[in-house]
Amino acid sequence: MAERTVLKMGDPRLLQKSPPVDAFDTPALHALIRDMKHTMRALDGVGLAAPQIGVNLRVVVFEVDNSNDPELDAVPFTVLVNPEIVRLSDAMEEDWEGCLSLPDMNGLVPRFTSIRYTGKDQFGNLVDRRVSGFHARVVQHEVDHLDGILYPRRISDLTQFGFTAALFSDDADETQAAQ
Ligand code: NI
Repeated sequence: MAERTVLKMGDPRLLQKSPPVDAFDTPALHALIRDMKHTMRALDGVGLAAPQIGVNLRVVVFEVDNSNDPELDAVPFTVLVNPEIVRLSDAMEEDWEGCLSLPDMNGLVPRFTSIRYTGKDQFGNLVDRRVSGFHARVVQHEVDHLDGILYPRRISDLTQFGFTAALFSDDADETQAAQ
């Protein structure tokens, strides 16, 4: 298990559309997911996509530990391979996001409020959930990485994008965990 280097915005590998995984329960896939889990936790992230560690495959992991912020719904550690998202309504909401590929920055990003997501875990078992709020936001952010999209491209008002320390100098509670 190894903590991997997270690529930063500007690296062209973050802009590629990643191809699907075609073999499950393989040593290579298990090793990738172990490294992603370790890297995400080491950096206090709530999500990580394989392209962020330079592996262009459709694999994401996420986990929301709400012990420091009970307003968030906890999300168990989840592996999602070849994910698909369907929105359950057209409703969108804006909230602050961060990304491990843009450290120390945040932006106000509109996302669909409620989604259904499907995919496989590392063994090939079906994952199928209907979620809303922050859980839905994290999944949309991670799946965007698989299509080469970083959150600044989703921001509708670029005045609401900047360095965390400057944006929230008066309100430390507003910062959002990075993904
Ligand atoms: Ni991200």
